[in-house]
Amino acid sequence: MSGMGKRVAITRRIHERAREVLEAAGVEVWTNPEPRPLTREELGRIVHNFDAMICLLSERIDRELLEQASRLRVVANYAVGYDNLDVDTATRLGIALTNTPDVLTNATAELAWALLFAAARHVAAGDRFVREKRFHGWDPLLFLGHEVAGKTLGVVGAGRIGTAMAKRAVGFEMKILYTKRSGPSPQMEAFGARYVGLEELLRESDFVSIHTPLTPDTRHLIDRERLRLMKPSAIIINTGRGPVVDETALAEALAEGRLAAAGLDVYENEPAVEPRLFTLPNVVLLPHIGSATYEARSAMAELAALNILDYFEGRVPRTCINPEYVKFSRSGI
Ligand code: GLV
Ligand code: GLV
Repeated sequence: MSGMGKRVAITRRIHERAREVLEAAGVEVWTNPEPRPLTREELGRIVHNFDAMICLLSERIDRELLEQASRLRVVANYAVGYDNLDVDTATRLGIALTNTPDVLTNATAELAWALLFAAARHVAAGDRFVREKRFHGWDPLLFLGHEVAGKTLGVVGAGRIGTAMAKRAVGFEMKILYTKRSGPSPQMEAFGARYVGLEELLRESDFVSIHTPLTPDTRHLIDRERLRLMKPSAIIINTGRGPVVDETALAEALAEGRLAAAGLDVYENEPAVEPRLFTLPNVVLLPHIGSATYEARSAMAELAALNILDYFEGRVPRTCINPEYVKFSRSGI
């Protein structure tokens, strides 16, 4: 079997599918049994003792750690976003990095829609209201919200997930604006979406949904000045990465009524949340669960395992982030 003699570490209990796939190929699998992240010291031992690792987006796989890697050749990130990985260092060391694109696209787009509706229609505040026994009968002015039909959705970053978000907006009869780093997208144009600059998108959208990956260029892409461009009736949704939005500036804008509402699944300094957000009733807060469906997590686990087996079998992994690693690889595939 292709995995004979190989050892893989999984840094946290994830969907069991990863272990199943790896063990079926004869790989020895170790999983962190504790419900907590590994310490730096423990990660340091993994890079010496294992051939591959499946890690989480909350673990920083940085230069210091990668440079210690006497045995580790593959890092499979259990996420599509990989701002936690030092790609340049891994490439230079011939270490393959992989992520889990596609399999979580629907799950994340669906959660973005859940947040959009929750923020637009006071779903979370309404639930709290009923639980607190404050519902005393139908009230003509209770929890008035914003309708989505006929409104404009601005998709910031029309990659896979942004495109899936937009696709669903067609059914809700919305106008769609989008930005995309690599230029206009035929798929988005097929939904009748219009490619615009970020500032135009912010000025004209009623709902702004963030889907751009976190890179040095997108950190605080939505900063204090850009938040000022948005309509006071606008709602912002973030299921991408927290640092893309200046969270302090966002809390200020919401508190001052310069934005109507927000739906957030990600935060600038996770797991910390800007304390002012807790005090605002027009904010819906979720604990980074964009890909948290049975379907997506099982498929992510399988894809992470298959990427590792690809490497063990002498191929460039199927969803490799840094295929240029091959030039520096000791095994010389
Ligand atoms: C989740 O945030 C991911 O990047 O998969
Ligand atoms: C970004 O993570 C995307 O796949 O759109």
